[in-house]
Amino acid sequence: MKKEIPNLILAPMAGITDLPFRIICKELGADTLYSEMLSSTGLHYTLQKNISLVNSCKQDFPLIIQLFGNNPKHFASATKIIDNLPKIDEINKSSTPRRPEGIDINFGCPVKKVMKQDSGCALMRDPKHAKKIIAAVIDNTSLPVSIKIRAGIDDVSAFDFLQEVSDLNWKTIMVHGRTFHEGFSGDIDFGLIKKIKEKYPKKEVIANGGIFTPETAKEVFEKTAADGLGIARGCFGNPWIFSQIKEYFATGTYTKPTLEEIKKVALRHCELIEEYKGKGNVVEMRKHLGWYFKGFPEAKKLRAEFFQVENLEEIKTILAKF
Ligand SMILES: Cc1cc2nc3c(=O)[nH]c(=O)nc-3n(C[C@H](O)[C@H](O)[C@H](O)COP(=O)(O)O)c2cc1C
Repeated sequence: MKKEIPNLILAPMAGITDLPFRIICKELGADTLYSEMLSSTGLHYTLQKNISLVNSCKQDFPLIIQLFGNNPKHFASATKIIDNLPKIDEINKSSTPRRPEGIDINFGCPVKKVMKQDSGCALMRDPKHAKKIIAAVIDNTSLPVSIKIRAGIDDVSAFDFLQEVSDLNWKTIMVHGRTFHEGFSGDIDFGLIKKIKEKYPKKEVIANGGIFTPETAKEVFEKTAADGLGIARGCFGNPWIFSQIKEYFATGTYTKPTLEEIKKVALRHCELIEEYKGKGNVVEMRKHLGWYFKGFPEAKKLRAEFFQVENLEEIKTILAKF
């Protein structure tokens, strides 16, 4: 039977979906958390070292680690490294790499640096090669494997791609309903996502793209009949979007956070960065602060200050001015 409330997934975002932000999203209702993309080649050559890029903890659950790259051998060794990490009930340290609940493969990234290495979305041009990559991951783990694709690239549609790889035993597909050429704007192809679910009913299909409010979440869910919704930029400054969507599906309305709640979560986010990434990394909060307080007139005045913060104390001083 079709679920009435879809799984709500924090979509992978380089530079954003680190451990502190994943914890914040989990606390505010995200059902599944994707890591930032991790280079399979980096893991292959530097072995264990690179994996610290995906530090995790018990709260960071269920976690999907996303890999990108081009070489099936590198994917195989990266998968083995991930598969052999300590299990969640074996970790004691508050922040350490651990065996995730799934491994995802990036076939959607349009960034030049990634495309130039024939990785990310470039792989959709060569479904036969992509198939070798998926097989290399599946053959080296018992974890569920997922793939993330776009609506298409050049003359290769998502269907052409899936035609080649659908017989492999991967479990989940996240479809960013825009083509490579559409980048990050433009309408989402709801019909395409719906047809993918109809054609591959046994695969879990996650619709992604353009979900910025509970209302758009409902529209995407109804128009695609997907099993889950992948939310990326919609949680910039609004990690409440997950709980808001759940409330909206259940009651038809939803609560917006008060300024005090926003301050509380923004401060918690800073504290988590200090705790898990070290005091020096609090500068990473600059962009988040801009997003958390967007729209507040006070924030406009304090914008320049947000972008210069160096530590938690400075952040507290600025927030006290609201
Ligand atoms: C800053 C940023 C970083 C991203 N990094 C990744 C990534 O590491 N892996 C990936 O598959 N997609 C990545 N994406 C794409 C998103 O997961 C998502 O597919 C895209 O933003 C469309 O969803 P949205 O309209 O909800 O933002 C990134 C997007 C943004 C904005």
